[in-house]
Amino acid sequence: MEEMKKTVLIGVTGCIAAYKSCELVRALQKKGYRVKVVMTENATHFVDPTTFRALTNEPVAVNLFAGAADPIYHISLAQEADLFIIAPCTANVAAKVACGLADDLLTTTALATEAPLVIAPAMNVHMYQNAITQQNLKTLAARGITIVEADEGYLACGEVGKGRMPEPAQLAEIVDDILSAPKDLAGKKVMITAGPTIEPIDPVRYISNPSSGKQGYALAQAAQTRGAEVVLVSGPVSLDAPAGIKVVPVKTACQMMEACSESFPECDIAIFTAAVSDMRPSIVADAKLKKGVNDKELSSISLVENPDILKTCGHAKKPGQIVIGFAAETNDVIENAQKKLATKGAQAIVANDVSEGKGFGADENDAFFVTQDEVKPFGPLSKRQLADAILDEALILASTL
Ligand code: CTP
Repeated sequence: MEEMKKTVLIGVTGCIAAYKSCELVRALQKKGYRVKVVMTENATHFVDPTTFRALTNEPVAVNLFAGAADPIYHISLAQEADLFIIAPCTANVAAKVACGLADDLLTTTALATEAPLVIAPAMNVHMYQNAITQQNLKTLAARGITIVEADEGYLACGEVGKGRMPEPAQLAEIVDDILSAPKDLAGKKVMITAGPTIEPIDPVRYISNPSSGKQGYALAQAAQTRGAEVVLVSGPVSLDAPAGIKVVPVKTACQMMEACSESFPECDIAIFTAAVSDMRPSIVADAKLKKGVNDKELSSISLVENPDILKTCGHAKKPGQIVIGFAAETNDVIENAQKKLATKGAQAIVANDVSEGKGFGADENDAFFVTQDEVKPFGPLSKRQLADAILDEALILASTL
């Protein structure tokens, strides 16, 4: 028997990029999805519903009350969808969805659906950058909605900047990732450390590093998509964690150690991406250190060693637990990672070459997955792809225990 096709509902709003939604229909159909379209009234000024009707071979809905055959069409549409993608999404519709306003068929369906929601905003650069729009997008992301950042480039209004709807092929890829993600981590608990730690010198100064936290957050998101229960122990970063992930915010290495000591015993897989400060000032001044007054303290700060969180957990691991560390190296990348395997008590080290500014804050990563038996080169991969590759390896390691 032929497998039932999954249904992707595309919401099209009143934006010039609406013509790209026609290509999105095709791109999703090519991936084997059944596609339906719901439009706002304004969207029909850009593309006629007939076009989508012909492309999808399905009725195209615009009005809440027009479908006499089905008086509660928003509910049946919402239930039918395996995923709802609003592309392009205007500032207005993003604002409405963020507030839970439901005054037409598209926004009502967005509120009624239990399917994953993806939003691809597209608008004028100033509207996109407006703090109100950005706040709305943050609110949506915090509710677990996937926001696809707008592309930069030439905009229909004649300006150049951020606000273009990403290419349909890219959007179809994102949809496919969400819908075809294996749930191979269902029932597993995954702990991830991420970001930098900050070690205070006085109330206004600290020792830290430029870790963005992106790799740890990508791992957390990938693990959650694959069905894991995720605890993300995170140093200070400017990223929002997707809804459903338990975030334990920490500042210092000692706080991170404490949070990990609590979560580690319960987890099946622990991945340590945090860039933990190896040392912390031995004395933290209660008041700001002043030039002329505290010159001695300012010119030489005495340091003490921080707990090594990976090492502590690695050596405390119980049979069945998988511990994976990261190593940022500038030279002898693989040899250094191999040494760390033993000293840290980890089954694997993901070794990153951070020479010449690679790694920190970047969106793409070259890495080696180093275990006792082999060295697998990964990359260049996006942080999300690397995250999935690491989780694949973690499952292989778990199956060999
Ligand atoms: N790590 C940790 N706690 C620390 C230091 C490091 O958990 N206090 C973890 C990191 O999250 C990473 C791994 O250990 O997974 C490797 O960190 P790295 O800084 O490369 O190793 P170090 O042990 O600090 O060794 P070195 O600085 O000599 O390379």
